[in-house]
Amino acid sequence: MCGIVALVGSREASPILLEGLKKLEYRGYDSSGLATVTIDRDNKESYISCRKAQGKLTNLLRLIEKKSTLGHVGIGHTRWATHGKPEEKNAHPHLDSSGKVAVVQNGIIENHSLLRSNLEQKGIKFSSDTDTEVIPHLISEEISLLKKEGHKIGGSLLQLAVQKVLDVLKGSYAIAVIWAESPDVLIVAKSQAPLLIGFGEGEFLCASDTPAFSGFTRTILSLEDKELALITPLGVEIYDSLGNRKHRAPKLISGYESDSDKGDFKHFMLKEIFEQPETAELWITRYLPNGLPLESPVAFPFEDSFYDSIEEIQILACGTSRHAAMVGAYLLEQFAGISAKVFFASEFRYAPPPLARNVLTIGVTQSGETADTLAALSMEYERRSACNQKVFASRQLGITNRGESSLSRQVSNVIDIGAGLEVGVAATKTFLGQLLTFYGLAIIFAGRRKSRSLNEISELCNLLRGLPKQLRDLIVTHNKLAEKLSHKFSSTKDVIFLGRGINYPIALEAALKLKEISYIHAEGYPAGEMKHGPIALLDHKVPVISIANEGIVFEKVLSNAQEAKARDACLIGIAPELPETMIFDHLLPIPRTSEWISPLLTAIPSQLLSYHIAARRGLDVDQPRNLAKSVTVE
Ligand code: F6R
Repeated sequence: MCGIVALVGSREASPILLEGLKKLEYRGYDSSGLATVTIDRDNKESYISCRKAQGKLTNLLRLIEKKSTLGHVGIGHTRWATHGKPEEKNAHPHLDSSGKVAVVQNGIIENHSLLRSNLEQKGIKFSSDTDTEVIPHLISEEISLLKKEGHKIGGSLLQLAVQKVLDVLKGSYAIAVIWAESPDVLIVAKSQAPLLIGFGEGEFLCASDTPAFSGFTRTILSLEDKELALITPLGVEIYDSLGNRKHRAPKLISGYESDSDKGDFKHFMLKEIFEQPETAELWITRYLPNGLPLESPVAFPFEDSFYDSIEEIQILACGTSRHAAMVGAYLLEQFAGISAKVFFASEFRYAPPPLARNVLTIGVTQSGETADTLAALSMEYERRSACNQKVFASRQLGITNRGESSLSRQVSNVIDIGAGLEVGVAATKTFLGQLLTFYGLAIIFAGRRKSRSLNEISELCNLLRGLPKQLRDLIVTHNKLAEKLSHKFSSTKDVIFLGRGINYPIALEAALKLKEISYIHAEGYPAGEMKHGPIALLDHKVPVISIANEGIVFEKVLSNAQEAKARDACLIGIAPELPETMIFDHLLPIPRTSEWISPLLTAIPSQLLSYHIAARRGLDVDQPRNLAKSVTVE
């Protein structure tokens, strides 16, 4: 979603801001812009130079090449439209009427309508449809008042003005502000949206996410909610909302995300699909190493006591992470024998179930920044803390791919899936890392509850250890098969995925992958549910893709597939090569394996099929329309 970069330094800001924005491109955006404070030494005045462009960053770059934006202090932004269409006028930065105050924002100002109409009544003319534009106008108003009160022009005046405006804003936001009359100063502030400050040599770079700092610095300070930072070439001063100075040292971040590169792959998504054997290998080396006792073979970073007395698990997540959680809940219940429920994070916040005792709440988010998930976790923490009884105490666990994310700061127990930076908006290798982490949890709970014998646990551990090799072979084979099969989808408008049991969430995930990158309408159903309605959609134009692995529901899924075939649907199977699976018009074969680990394999053919269908259509696979990698608004 929106990306912010801002710089105070001694070098020209625009190239550094553009480079930072480029590194945040993966978050998803539809327009971009930047502004610098330009000092005109001849006329002894400063002004804001602002450029904005609809579409890709190259459009902004072209604009700046034509008409430069000089200055050592500046702010930049990639916008993912929420309020107002993705047009140039709505791109950030937004300026006040005098053109002296410029602001970029990531988030949503919930009370913008009221603030806007108050300003309009005072005669302020707006030039965009955004919620953000109220901020520069309000800051400008405060600046005028403070000047009238006799405050001296400078950083402190701007800080006071921004703080007064923050006091009236409702919503979640991160902002960066510059003012032409105080050309050395940058103000940044945040509330429930990420903002980090990087300490370079004689310069400071602020950004929404760590990749923006690669090649700049590893020394990062993350701003906390309701904090404001006043940044000048001399240093960074942090204040709380009451204006009290706070002192906090920056941290050296480890596991730093380096520049990503597509290598020989056409798209990041394909590269990331091919990286999955490595994702599995790294996860196994870290969390399922050989040599640990069979009674506790998983090396998650928690004391044994962390798991004590947990009677129930609730999992909060969105999108692909929710699908991983659904496989996780199946494993926790069916393998480990502990009750587990999955919730849409966005729904949980406003309709939580009644409080149950001794519950572990797990938040799953690859980005660690999903506003819905963070807000749901925080609501759950607060309602449990209010209870004041040990059995209702809040116990939370985060599963993420971003060790330096807001989730990691919000939740004290975190498992980093360690999949490395995922650039493609469609989650693939992070999905695998999340799935593996749930296998780890299921093994832990099965061991603790003695719901499985040590033999069964050891068998599952060995199956997982054999996964990297299986994935390697599977990906190479299916890359070719999927490319070939993708030709059949040139005019397809609807696709149905069927799965059952542990593979039902894989059907949901396959449908999500296909729709998000190819824009083909796709639905995933539990196979047995098709006859209760969706079967009405079927005819020869609607391919039905069935995920069928040997196990308790194998024959059932095959019968459900036959029902589709009888309605002339083109039948594709993600299934082992067996006499029973000859019913499929096309088979995407998976190795014969235990049902328990089958989702780790069945997910692959549909990832590759979605990829090749979208790539054949010439679509922007890595940055599909309207989507964002980090969904930082609710
Ligand atoms: C799908 C996808 C999204 C995300 C969802 C949650 O490929 O990437 O559905 O899974 O937006 O994101 P995280 O996992 O960052 O919370």
